Amino acid sequence: MQNVFSIAIDGPSGAGKSSVARAVAEKLGAMYLDTGAMYRAVGLYMLKNGVPLNDASAIAANCPGVDVRVGYGKDGQQCVYLGEEDVSKAIRAAEVSLAASSVSTVPAVRERMVALQRGIAQGHSVVMDGRDIGTKVLPDATLKVFLTASAEVRARRRYDELSCKGMHEPYEKVLEELIRRDEVDTHREASPLRKAEDAVEVDCSQMTLEEVVETVVSLARQAVEGKA
Ligand code: DC
Repeated sequence: MQNVFSIAIDGPSGAGKSSVARAVAEKLGAMYLDTGAMYRAVGLYMLKNGVPLNDASAIAANCPGVDVRVGYGKDGQQCVYLGEEDVSKAIRAAEVSLAASSVSTVPAVRERMVALQRGIAQGHSVVMDGRDIGTKVLPDATLKVFLTASAEVRARRRYDELSCKGMHEPYEKVLEELIRRDEVDTHREASPLRKAEDAVEVDCSQMTLEEVVETVVSLARQAVEGKA
């Protein structure tokens, strides 16, 4: 594909957005940006600095001190830094997931992240995944995908993923936390998770990762050719 294009992949937690977006970016030779990792880094910063996560004004007041940077390792994997510190692993802890969900409700945090994300994407073909990519970050994206799956399927996948990493959380707890995050993400005032009007909804409950990737790649090719 020739011209610069952008693909927005939004959807609830655990739908497989990151795996799909990463694979699609690789197939199309585009840059991949996992925007959730950036909110996670902000959440980690607030945890490290003892900022109460139920205090939106304290989070907003501390936001200017957060130095989130995104880099890419030799293997092309996205790394996230807080200042000079690589926090790519630390941001995956369960308490950071909840912290990310809290900080992402604060408008000052969102404004900062959206500006950073647009800056990173500028001039590149990009595949971005998040919650507000099609509605806010890239409103003119070449293709917008809203990736969904039932809460039970998403919780089962997350549970399997955690088990593979030796983290044995009960399935019920994983499901409960996922439903709680869905609730926060869809009901917050600032850029709630919702399908953009011009997004294509892909329900991947019954699909393999490869099938979803093929579906999105084919939609992307059609969209890029349609706009050429
Ligand atoms: O995709 P994730 O689970 O790593 O995202 C972590 C949190 O960040 C999640 O609760 C929602 C929030 N988020 C957001 O509000 N907007 C984005 N573009 C990406 C993530």
